[in-house]
Amino acid sequence: MRQDIVHPGADKLRYEIREIVDVAKRVAKEGISIVWENIGDPVAKGEVPPAWIKKIVADATREDLTFAYSPTKGLDETRAYIARERNLEGGIQITPDDILFFNGLGDGISHLYRNLNPHARILGPDPSYPTHSSAEAAHSDKPHITYKLDPENGWKPDLAEMEKKIRKHKDISGILIVNPDNPTGFVYPQETIRAIVALAKKYKLFIISDEIYSNLVYEGNNMYKLASVIDGVPGIAMRGISKEFPWPGARCGWIEFYNRDKDENFDRYTRSIVDSKTLEVCSTTLPQRVLPKVMGDKRYYPYLALRTHRYQERSDYAYSVFSKIPGIIVHKARGAFYFTCVFKNGILNKNQTLSVKNNFKKYLDSCLTNASPDKRFVYYLLASTGICVVPLSSGFNSSLQGFRFLLLEPNESHFKKTVDIIAKSIIDYLSSK
Ligand SMILES: Cc1ncc(COP(=O)(O)O)c(C=O)c1O
Repeated sequence: MRQDIVHPGADKLRYEIREIVDVAKRVAKEGISIVWENIGDPVAKGEVPPAWIKKIVADATREDLTFAYSPTKGLDETRAYIARERNLEGGIQITPDDILFFNGLGDGISHLYRNLNPHARILGPDPSYPTHSSAEAAHSDKPHITYKLDPENGWKPDLAEMEKKIRKHKDISGILIVNPDNPTGFVYPQETIRAIVALAKKYKLFIISDEIYSNLVYEGNNMYKLASVIDGVPGIAMRGISKEFPWPGARCGWIEFYNRDKDENFDRYTRSIVDSKTLEVCSTTLPQRVLPKVMGDKRYYPYLALRTHRYQERSDYAYSVFSKIPGIIVHKARGAFYFTCVFKNGILNKNQTLSVKNNFKKYLDSCLTNASPDKRFVYYLLASTGICVVPLSSGFNSSLQGFRFLLLEPNESHFKKTVDIIAKSIIDYLSSK
């Protein structure tokens, strides 16, 4: 090319959750069947969307307007429904004008960082959902700046470290929280979000709260949305239907702007996000048309309760198995549908292995040149057992060593078998050298 046509941030776009699929396909060619524990898609994992939701969708396809564009911000009646529900919960009151639809929340995340001044940085959690951390790093062409979610403290964020980072990096303009969190399953207690809001207020920052799992919080845990504690701080909450309905293939998510009137610069930024969405005309109409009917149906919340009950049982079982293994740290998930195991410092080395087919070892080692220790474990686990999980370090932009798997498997005995095999593999791996 006459000019370098590659964006300077190109190398920062990483999504190990899907990158590992190519390796798994090579493993499958060796005759090993793959247990997919990498992608948080309930439907791909075997959950059946309820017949009543399918009927609402089928009925919508019979209306001609379902095939039309929708307004850029989203269908008026759908945004009115969301604003009404939001306002009934108490906390900050919004109007339909404060809501903007996207083709999936991933698209919303991408618009958010793409339209941010390259010198304005967002402080995000470690470990972090890679769509946020990669998009933030790419927008600034610098490594993502993170605060620690502390596995030694039940995954609570280290607020002292958060404030230190905010003071040190003057370009930090916003704080991201993912609540409930992917990959840890942590749900932020009210006082923690309040403390983060107070920091934002003190340093004149805005807050992004990714709440895509907010309706998937387990019994005994309370969900405090950003809207309930935001006070006068500018904020953006993110929601979607991929995990809830579940309908990830619909590509439908939305963001809610809070306190636009409190800060002119924040208001201008939010208008630039709307403008960039306008260039794309609008988001997909069908899921927006059915959203109020599905979420407003009296069967919706009981249906979600059944699902979260099952995830909680899966998490309890995983905890009972993994917490007995010396050298790893685990916590019961409180929401979403992920379980994370952390290897304690120094417990992994480059000589540990699991038994894999001889001819495959060469390929595996070629993939693992300069790989982090947890990626090495994950690849050996995959090659040896067919179980495909995601390493924390490269998969979730983390300083921790560990891995994440799913709590989605609908078949209880399959789930328990997978957990038992992973646990045995950890023990074998750690004792191999
Ligand atoms: C925390 C979080 N935010 C956003 C997304 C993206 O969701 P969507 O399917 O709406 O793009 C995901 C998907 O896994 C997620 O875990």
